[in-house]
Amino acid sequence: MKQTAISSLNPVYLDNNASTPLSPEVVSAMAVCLRHNFGNPSSAHPYGEAARKAVENARKQVADLINTRPEEIIFTSGGTESNNMAILGTALRFKTGHIISSCIEHPSVMNPLKYLEGLGFKVTYLPVDKYGIVNPDVFKKLIRKNTILITIMHSNNETGSIQQIAEIGKIANSNKIVFHCDAAQSVGKAPVNVKRLNVDLLTIVSHKFYGPKGVGALYIKWGTALKPILYGASHERGLRPGTENVCSIVGLGKAAEIAKKEMRTRVSGMRYLTRIFYDELRKEIPGIKLNGHPTRRLPNTLNLSFPDIQGYVLLERLKNEIAASTGSACHEGKHKPSPVLKAMGLSDEAALSAVRLSLGINTTEAQIRRAVKAIVKAYKNP
Ligand SMILES: Cc1ncc(COP(=O)(O)O)c(C=O)c1O
Repeated sequence: MKQTAISSLNPVYLDNNASTPLSPEVVSAMAVCLRHNFGNPSSAHPYGEAARKAVENARKQVADLINTRPEEIIFTSGGTESNNMAILGTALRFKTGHIISSCIEHPSVMNPLKYLEGLGFKVTYLPVDKYGIVNPDVFKKLIRKNTILITIMHSNNETGSIQQIAEIGKIANSNKIVFHCDAAQSVGKAPVNVKRLNVDLLTIVSHKFYGPKGVGALYIKWGTALKPILYGASHERGLRPGTENVCSIVGLGKAAEIAKKEMRTRVSGMRYLTRIFYDELRKEIPGIKLNGHPTRRLPNTLNLSFPDIQGYVLLERLKNEIAASTGSACHEGKHKPSPVLKAMGLSDEAALSAVRLSLGINTTEAQIRRAVKAIVKAYKNP
């Protein structure tokens, strides 16, 4: 089958929270690795050593991005596996106990928690306020004697709202509760410093910041014990057995190195364009409502409810102009409102009218102006 060339696809790409294009430097680093680094990192000969060095270099690049040491980084197949490793690995070590999470987590956190509930663990799902933010004081009151784990996301994939992770971490640390943070949407897009956040475990996802898909990492603070969820040889400190996906790991490392170098300009550039986007849309469609926190938010994400139209209808009208997504799920032709927006108190109607527009480092002002025109036209004149 012939693959579709991206250049032949015209719509403005505004779905960077789903996935990002690869940085050209990432492609080059991976291409060199694919051509030359075929050795098994566990082999003792020079080919193995070269592959091992590539993996260890990437580990350092990822560690540098979140201000930690390479020994505290484990490579995985992505966010889903990192979240499973953190949550199941902690729970299975304790064998029993109480877990606290929030009601706006990604399915790769929610579903391991549901699985653990089936095994007899108790889980409390914290509510969020109208901006999608968890109140650390509410969390404090829900801690029990047998609370073993708290897992809260850094920023939400649908709204971009950023949680008060450092404050929650402080409470978790002082109560000796393991603290996991799913930072899939934040790492590479916003500064993430594990030392400041007081986290024990933190999920990193490569394809959310211009690295390849199918690879990620878990930060494991030194001294935090996890029970493996996969069994095999002793790769990745015995926590993630299996021959390393060397070239993808190299791609993730390169993406992390660039993200660290460019963090300031990335954040200010995306924030500037997101602001123009929102202001221009508001001028033309005054009834638009921003879902999520007005300031504690990712610089690239706009979740907007449009009056009197369902999000999927609007996107359908715009399919040749912009590529974005709604948070609603479609089951048997019926659209269900996003549980995240419902948890924030939105009516079904407001939740179903939401569209997520997520910008990236390649988004230009001209694209934003084109997107505004297209959205206004599709909204006002179907
Ligand atoms: C907040 C969050 N966590 C976890 C994941 C899972 O990442 P992956 O699909 O790469 O496993 C995603 C992906 O969208 C996400 O947005």
